[in-house]
Amino acid sequence: MTYKIAILPGDGIGNDVMDAAKIVLDAIDLDAEYLRGDVGWEFWCKEGNPLPDRTVELLKSCDCCLFGAITSKPKEEAIQELNPDLRNTGVSYYSPIVAMRQLFNLYVNMRPCFAFQGNTLNYRDDIDIVVFRENTEGLYSGVEFHPLPDVVRAALSTHPRMSAFEQVANEDMALSCRLFTRKGCQRIVRAAFEYAQEQGRESVTVIEKPNVIRETSGLMIREARKIAQEYPDIAFWETNVDAMAMWLIKNPQEYSVLVTSNLFGDIISDLCAQLVGGLGFASAANMSEDFAVFEPTHGSAPKYAGQHKVNPTAMLLAVKLMLDWLGEKEAAQSLFKAIASVIKEGTIKTYDLGGISSTLEVGQAVAERL
Ligand code: NAI
Ligand code: MG
Repeated sequence: MTYKIAILPGDGIGNDVMDAAKIVLDAIDLDAEYLRGDVGWEFWCKEGNPLPDRTVELLKSCDCCLFGAITSKPKEEAIQELNPDLRNTGVSYYSPIVAMRQLFNLYVNMRPCFAFQGNTLNYRDDIDIVVFRENTEGLYSGVEFHPLPDVVRAALSTHPRMSAFEQVANEDMALSCRLFTRKGCQRIVRAAFEYAQEQGRESVTVIEKPNVIRETSGLMIREARKIAQEYPDIAFWETNVDAMAMWLIKNPQEYSVLVTSNLFGDIISDLCAQLVGGLGFASAANMSEDFAVFEPTHGSAPKYAGQHKVNPTAMLLAVKLMLDWLGEKEAAQSLFKAIASVIKEGTIKTYDLGGISSTLEVGQAVAERL
């Protein structure tokens, strides 16, 4: 069966790194149809929608999606750059990547952080961490208020701790809800353990802060403890998120699979990415059982847009994650080896590694080794 793969390059360097990905995909010779779609700032400005309906339809017709990067800007700038005909029509900017995660219920955000041999940007050469970040709820659920509506205020006031805020006016208070569901906690922890088992990894570390954030972090930890019992061969560690930031600098080589909620996972995975070379090396898989979006985790880096200067490794690793998810294990392994070999050899490298090669030259070098 021919795969249908949506290609959404997005803005800025999203296009540059997608060009490199195409070179590599052509070399892999996967039985696939690649369908390009519109996403990003350009479509916000022109159409008032950064993820147009036709793109959503395209995604629905595909097996999975390769995503480049998008530009997003604060509220005021978003309105200023919007097509004047669309102002005051009630449209407002939202993140298309967050929207895709919620629309397709892509509850797993998996971010491998592997120290490639020969990568001079490695913090240490023995780091091999995979972060599982819950991707649909928590502080990024989007349930937020400012000012506080009276009904919300009234409901909150039933809590004794709210007395500390009694004198604060509704318009002087903002609220972002950290919503966890039992199912949300269970499925992200299970995904982490299943991966650990499949890959023969020794430990899973759940990262929360249950001593202070007693209810949400508490729910995650309690569910994690239950699930851990089903995997007696895998060590289960619990750490607080603040301590984890320290441990990851002190002993990153001791950790293997990490699992946490949305905001903590966002922060911890950026920390882990920097341990193995930074944004040029950090890829992510946003997954559910039946759809997935693969992306480098960097943004559109406007100052480098169109120059084919940035490192495409994160994008190529996203392609590798896609091949794994499609079940094309052999192709995934060959691609991984080809990427590793180019890095190890160290002659074709982009500016972040102190080289002068272009984005496309790196893509070509990887393609040749395939
Ligand atoms: P950024 O990730 O675009 O770039 C920050 C800096 O990191 C760049 O200036 C560059 O020095 C370096 N960098 C990024 N990717 C690189 C690569 N592949 N190779 C080598 N160096 C690389 O983040 P920034 O500047 O904060 O945001 C730019 C735009 O991207 C903003 O509009 C932001 O909202 C958006 N953004 C989008 C994301 C996404 O599409 N998933 C994620 C992060 C930011
Ligand atoms: Mg982030």
